[in-house]
Amino acid sequence: MAPRRLENRTALVTGATAGIGLATARILAGEGAKLLLNARREGLLAAVAAELRAVPVPGDVTDPSVRARLVEACGGRVDILVNNAGYGEAGPVETVKEADGRRQFEVNFFAAAALMQAVMPLMRKSRSGRIVNISSVAGRFGYPLFGWYCASKHALEGLSDSLRLEARPWGIHVSLVEPGPVETEFFDVTRGRAEGQIGDPSSPYAPFFRHVDEIEREMMSRAVTAERVARVVLSACLARRPRDRYVVAPMAKGTVLALRLLPRSWVDKAASRQFRVPRPEELR
Ligand SMILES: NC(=O)c1ccc[n+]([C@@H]2O[C@H](COP(=O)([O-])OP(=O)(O)OC[C@H]3O[C@@H](n4cnc5c(N)ncnc54)[C@H](OP(=O)(O)O)[C@@H]3O)[C@@H](O)[C@H]2O)c1
Repeated sequence: MAPRRLENRTALVTGATAGIGLATARILAGEGAKLLLNARREGLLAAVAAELRAVPVPGDVTDPSVRARLVEACGGRVDILVNNAGYGEAGPVETVKEADGRRQFEVNFFAAAALMQAVMPLMRKSRSGRIVNISSVAGRFGYPLFGWYCASKHALEGLSDSLRLEARPWGIHVSLVEPGPVETEFFDVTRGRAEGQIGDPSSPYAPFFRHVDEIEREMMSRAVTAERVARVVLSACLARRPRDRYVVAPMAKGTVLALRLLPRSWVDKAASRQFRVPRPEELR
């Protein structure tokens, strides 16, 4: 049997009841890590924790008392933090409600930021640690109808870059994982939240919504599995010199390459085509 590479390491994973977080928890547990897991669905989290012999800390990651319990449960040492809990707030920049935009940042950015702040003293004490933040290719480019989500991931990328430079002297590595579409509950959650807007025929943006099913089908046809992303998270935890960014899946790699090589106006055109941004004459 191959040696378990994370034996005696403590890892904290948020959003562990589904998708990438669940796959990550399983792969880290398989390597022997002692896990502390968080998500809101208490029963589901308890079942995952029982399967992986992990400690469940249920609750909303935006709640400071939940985060405090999570860090306390580590018993004074955290080797790995995977900031994964998140969702996508879809809709035009103009019409997403301010409260929904703020909530997007609370979950995807501020909760992750607060956990980084909370584990840093423990990691500095042990002069080691890995922080892996699940961003997205949306952390590199602002897609239409996903502005608030993209903004929250851009913010996470900026903060991670600064922390990477500050934390390095203590032997703490900060990595971003940037997947393209992944087969998880993500798009169902997004769809559920956006239904009111997509279904509103009086919206000035109604022409943007005509092709959402087709766009989603196209994206999902190129989606990768959550297990594939989890394997990348594991490499960020194990690599001697972890990368600053791990782009996952051909679609995400294509976008990142295009951003590097092509004028932004070309990338804009391609994204407008992909998201079926209507022509002026199609607007009412
Ligand atoms: N799927 C994709 O295409 C894709 C692509 C790029 C990046 N990502 C990123 O990957 C991460 C994971 O998403 P996923 O695709 O695995 O989606 P998912 O299947 O919907 O899983 C999201 C997880 O986050 C938890 N969660 C959501 N809000 C929470 C909150 N307020 N407090 C605590 N836990 C919360 C959910 O559990 P509960 O409902 O039980 O709380 C669930 O375990 C996200 O940061 C997402 O932005 C996803």
